[in-house]
Amino acid sequence: MKPDEIRSKYLSFFAERDHRVVSSSPVIPQGDQTLLFTNAGMNQFKDVLLGNEKRDYARAASVQKCIRAGGKHNDLDEVGRDGRHLTFFEMLGNWSFGDYYKRDTIKWAWEVVTEVLGLDVERVYITTYKDDDEAYDIWTKEIGIPLHRIARQGDVEQGNEENFWSMGPTGPCGPCTELFFDMSPSDGPVTFIEGQYDEERIIEFWNCVFMEFNRDEDGNLTPLPMQSVDTGMGLDRIAMVKAGARNVFQTELFTPIFVKTAELLGRDISADLQAFYNDDLFTHYAVIADHIRSVTFSLCDGAKFGNQGRGSVLRSILRRAMFHGKQLGFETPFMHEVAQAVIDTYSEVYPELAAVGSQARTLIKLEEEKFLSTLDRGLSLFERVIEKAKETGEGLDGETIFTLHTTFGFPPDMTAVLAEDEGVEVDMEGYQVAFTNHQLASKGKDLYANAIGAGDWATINEGPAAEFTGYTSLTETAQIRRYRTTEAGCDVLLSVTPFYAESGGQVGDTGAIVAASGALSLEVTDTQKTPIGIVHHCKITSGELTEEALQGNFSAQVDATARKLTISNHTATHLLHAALRDIVSDEVFQSGSSVTPEKLRFDFSLGQPVSSEQLRAIEDRVNEQIRAGHVVTIHEDVDRDRAVNELGAMAIFGEKYGDTVRVVDIPGESVELCGGTHVSNTNEIGLFRITHESGVAAGIRRIEAVTGQAAYASFQHDRALLTTVAHAIKAESHNVLDRAKSLTQERAELERKLRQMSQKLAKLESAGIVNDAIEIDGVKVIAQKIDVDSRDQLLAYADKLRDKLDQAAILLGAEIDGKAALLCAVSDSVFKQRKVKAGDLVNKVASHVNGRGGGRPTLAQAGGSNPAGLQDAVDAFEAAVRETFGA
Ligand code: SER
Repeated sequence: MKPDEIRSKYLSFFAERDHRVVSSSPVIPQGDQTLLFTNAGMNQFKDVLLGNEKRDYARAASVQKCIRAGGKHNDLDEVGRDGRHLTFFEMLGNWSFGDYYKRDTIKWAWEVVTEVLGLDVERVYITTYKDDDEAYDIWTKEIGIPLHRIARQGDVEQGNEENFWSMGPTGPCGPCTELFFDMSPSDGPVTFIEGQYDEERIIEFWNCVFMEFNRDEDGNLTPLPMQSVDTGMGLDRIAMVKAGARNVFQTELFTPIFVKTAELLGRDISADLQAFYNDDLFTHYAVIADHIRSVTFSLCDGAKFGNQGRGSVLRSILRRAMFHGKQLGFETPFMHEVAQAVIDTYSEVYPELAAVGSQARTLIKLEEEKFLSTLDRGLSLFERVIEKAKETGEGLDGETIFTLHTTFGFPPDMTAVLAEDEGVEVDMEGYQVAFTNHQLASKGKDLYANAIGAGDWATINEGPAAEFTGYTSLTETAQIRRYRTTEAGCDVLLSVTPFYAESGGQVGDTGAIVAASGALSLEVTDTQKTPIGIVHHCKITSGELTEEALQGNFSAQVDATARKLTISNHTATHLLHAALRDIVSDEVFQSGSSVTPEKLRFDFSLGQPVSSEQLRAIEDRVNEQIRAGHVVTIHEDVDRDRAVNELGAMAIFGEKYGDTVRVVDIPGESVELCGGTHVSNTNEIGLFRITHESGVAAGIRRIEAVTGQAAYASFQHDRALLTTVAHAIKAESHNVLDRAKSLTQERAELERKLRQMSQKLAKLESAGIVNDAIEIDGVKVIAQKIDVDSRDQLLAYADKLRDKLDQAAILLGAEIDGKAALLCAVSDSVFKQRKVKAGDLVNKVASHVNGRGGGRPTLAQAGGSNPAGLQDAVDAFEAAVRETFGA
């Protein structure tokens, strides 16, 4: 049975039993601060399970993309070590929200196992939670599972969470029953007793959770308002079972990825896959294959590589894979090539890979190039320290792990795994100490501290999640559905809202929510999408936050001025994107954007800075489109394929792939998939001006720009600056350039004259200095501190002195720009006949000014930080010469 068939048969089975088939949510959770990655099919139903949200269906089924790396469910370290863990996998799941419970769950699971998947029932084993008699009895008495194939496990009160599933440190949880499969009956009889079965042989493939509790931050379990069901079966594992394989990588989900990786190494493995699976190098291929799936899916869903939180986990995954690539012999970036196999394998099921996969490949390549430059050096340090650790029997200390991280980009978790694989212990606590000492503590750690505790919310009016009406209206009459107090004031959910919640780079709306009763006025400082709906962050401007004051109608008013500025900037961002692709390169793609009332910021892929000519052309182009007065057309609910193929929409990272999309069309210029708010005619933007172009990361550039009044103000600012400059150089605005040019010329002329004067002065003064010369062994020796402003002048003096003297050794010292400068010159004859070098002489005295010097044999200079020592240096010169001459 092929994976495609498993997916479709599973979904059909539950659709026939009145389940709504729901598409996978992105692997990057939308608005849930408690998760780094989507780690289970139930994530998108979290608030339904908690009773915070109601849907128009009580049964659902899906195939969900999941990543288990970082956070509570973290399988990163296991990948490659055993044959069954993956960081990326697909989870088949069915749900009941307060509808059916244990009996139907178990009965249907068994039907799927026996009828849909056709597994050999003798090889299926079951576990239940220690005191879940109901589930145990259904399995044993109704389904007929013999007692030697079922075990009770877990005891939450004792800290044993077997058969008790929770999504994260907080949130919905409950006891579960799990289904296992014996991978190798030929190995003899199985002992299936709690904690005593062979996990490599008897492997779990399906978990059915009976959601009964909400766990709060202190670990307390509170019963949920309704009993729900959440099941999850790993597609890769069941595909392995169906393929009769012992290793989760040995299915056709991975074959194209292996073939591609091997092909890049000039190897053809397709003829004999079994031999390839038995190859010593297979583990390296497996880790690469798993990791490239996680990386590709994450990027396509909008994640970025970074130093903190999710970005750093992603970076770590890629770098670990690169390490394994190195073991296979890859010396140049290869992961972005392997990514193509992931894109080809999954594009039909997950359209985002087809849409933005090639852009993700560009980001992977940039990231690979970044790490490759330090990988070799890091590895040689790693190998050295591992050798040493093996010799001494001591573990790897925290400072070394820290150095490998900060200097060579080795993620500490990667170092730990590599070291453990070598049998060397790692001091991760020491690493944390080093990390904290260097004050680099990652903010990513705080991700888990910001859980939106849905339990904190108080309900004022029951009802479905708020509808957003803000595309067409800026005010609404609404009721408060739920609220919670915050440090700033309160957060509220409305029955209907015109407030745009931050997304697609556009900031959340601000404004006011005012009670019709007059009892309460709130200022909305931000609006955010969360799993429980659109949350308005508010300050209280008048009244008190009582349940009574929160009753009745409220007027929800978006700040129209701020919104107007924001929409100008948003439409201008689309025009900028189009102009960039047209003028700079059609390979350019958006890698991030920020649209606020004040300005817009657009990040895009490009290997070199945008030239000033190109910037000018882009600015011209955008302003032309503004003046052209295009009517901006919004196509709501367009079929995705039509949007891309017929309307020519450009896809972007992180976009949610529902069945239909929203398209923003500036006819003839730009077509983008976008959920944001826009002007209705481009001439409302007024004016566009680029304020800044810079690089933000390897291969990523940023353009910042302003529109309308802000652009006008920016031109005005420049005009005022021009007037001020003109005034300062005693010119008028119209002739400021001529005046500036002639000032520059005048300055050059003055500098020339000054040099001449210095020469003359040096000539005059040097005559006096010569008179002070003493004679040592037939050589005139001069040592003087003089008053000059530049090294050039010092040189001019030295030249004049040498001209006047046939055999001379000269030291001149001066304070220049607060530092000590020494110059030593000896006549050619002194150097040739006595082999005395100016550099040696100056270094004999330079210590007085804390300096060292060097130069040609006849002319050397030394700089020093201590000008107060100049006189001492000068005074020491005579003795230095005597010593050198041996006189
Ligand atoms: N949430 C459970 C799991 O991930 C069942 O889907 O195992």
